[in-house]
Amino acid sequence: MTTFHNFIGGAWVAPSTGDYFENRNPADQQDVIGRFPSSGVADVDAAVVSAQRGFDRWKRTPAPARGDVLRRVGDLMAARKEEIANLMTREMGKPLAETRGDVQEGIDTAYYAATEGRRLFGHTVPSELASKWAMTMRRPIGVCGLITPFNFPMAIPTWKAFPALLCGNSVILKPAEDVPHTATVLVEILLAAGLPPEVIQLVHGMGEVVGKALVEHPQVPVISFTGSTETGRFVGETCGRMHKRLSLEMGGKNAQIVLDDADLDLAIDGVLWGAFGTTGQRCTATSRLILQSGIHDTFVERLVGRAQALVLGDGRTAGHEVGPLVNEAAREKVERYVQIGKQQGATLRCGGARATGGALDSGFFFQPTIFTNVTAGSRLEQEEIFGPVLSVIQVATVEEAFAVNNGVRYGLSSSVYTSNVNVAFRALQDLDNGITYVNAPTIGAEAHLPFGGVKETGNGHREGGWEVYEFYSETKVGYVDYSGALQRAQIDNY
Ligand code: UN1
Repeated sequence: MTTFHNFIGGAWVAPSTGDYFENRNPADQQDVIGRFPSSGVADVDAAVVSAQRGFDRWKRTPAPARGDVLRRVGDLMAARKEEIANLMTREMGKPLAETRGDVQEGIDTAYYAATEGRRLFGHTVPSELASKWAMTMRRPIGVCGLITPFNFPMAIPTWKAFPALLCGNSVILKPAEDVPHTATVLVEILLAAGLPPEVIQLVHGMGEVVGKALVEHPQVPVISFTGSTETGRFVGETCGRMHKRLSLEMGGKNAQIVLDDADLDLAIDGVLWGAFGTTGQRCTATSRLILQSGIHDTFVERLVGRAQALVLGDGRTAGHEVGPLVNEAAREKVERYVQIGKQQGATLRCGGARATGGALDSGFFFQPTIFTNVTAGSRLEQEEIFGPVLSVIQVATVEEAFAVNNGVRYGLSSSVYTSNVNVAFRALQDLDNGITYVNAPTIGAEAHLPFGGVKETGNGHREGGWEVYEFYSETKVGYVDYSGALQRAQIDNY
């Protein structure tokens, strides 16, 4: 079995604990990818010491030169796209078309970061005093601790690491324990592209140990976390106490609204992709379908037929549309919610059980599941499941549809299918989400636009686009008085 290492202090090293965990293919539990370090607090401490040295060097590298490194990162990822997609599918299960998209999102993020190296703008602003210059500039902050999830094993680490690096920070990456292989390849690529070794550190292991140590470390002033709202609350409490800069990207309970005037074929394709793509394991997954009464019955009938026809299996085999859940705990959670749905009186229209038979028995497969007659406010309708379970809620009016969409504690993405331009713009205005799609599913975010949600989905920051560069840099103001006299602001000019 291959043994993988941490990358700390500029070298691939074994963990201080001597402990390892096995990484297996969720589509085939007999297939062992390798063993990865179960690191301890001492490994995090060593990574921080090294990352501080890396920071001292990297912050003095001109931003365009930092951008050049990231452009080479994009080139190397593009050259290895097919290989990375394959190992990613083997590691976490989603089909190759999706893992290719995941790598592509990393490439896009790299090229965007490369161009930002020649911008990273500050402002020049008129002073209220004569012969005085006023401007802002950006400074890097320090060591950034990045804690990333399993569902987008390449894209999400790049969303965080590339802007952090472009801004001149050093990075310690703690990837989800389900996807350590993809993260290892990302670090290999960063090094091959010419990133100075101590600027990046990779520490594998469990969130309760490695993630916690990073969050609590006094020399890690920046934390970016994507994961559950529950864990995010602990991360936030610690960062709040320690005055750290923190970006949180957490749960979702995203809805697709289909109104009576919608193009139903389009809306069915959208909800199948939104609800069952990545086996429903996306922050942006469509887990609620809000149908206006005029089209409800027809829509459900056609949707159920299409969902039952989805082909499950190993995502590396052509023709397989839905992969496994990432691990047994995820599958048990989905099963619990199916029980909750039944107990609360929802109607199970399809799925609801493990998918078994033949090769499916070796993996964590679960049938695409649709409940109808789901009541707004019920647990099925309110709580994030992170699996292939779609809840259908029937509404009479546009107003009711919007109210149901907004009646949850999360606010990542939403989608509305309508042919009425006025309603489309009202949705953009009135739906309480960070992202609203018109005539497109709840997933589809592009790397050069800000990504994030409102309410308990986030804490006000965005990943991606230009906004993330604000997060990873500190604004500094410079005033230059070239009048040769003492000029007192707010006094001498009034
Ligand atoms: C997530 O849902 O966890 O289209 C991230 C999107 C993706 C990223 C999704 N590019 O929304």
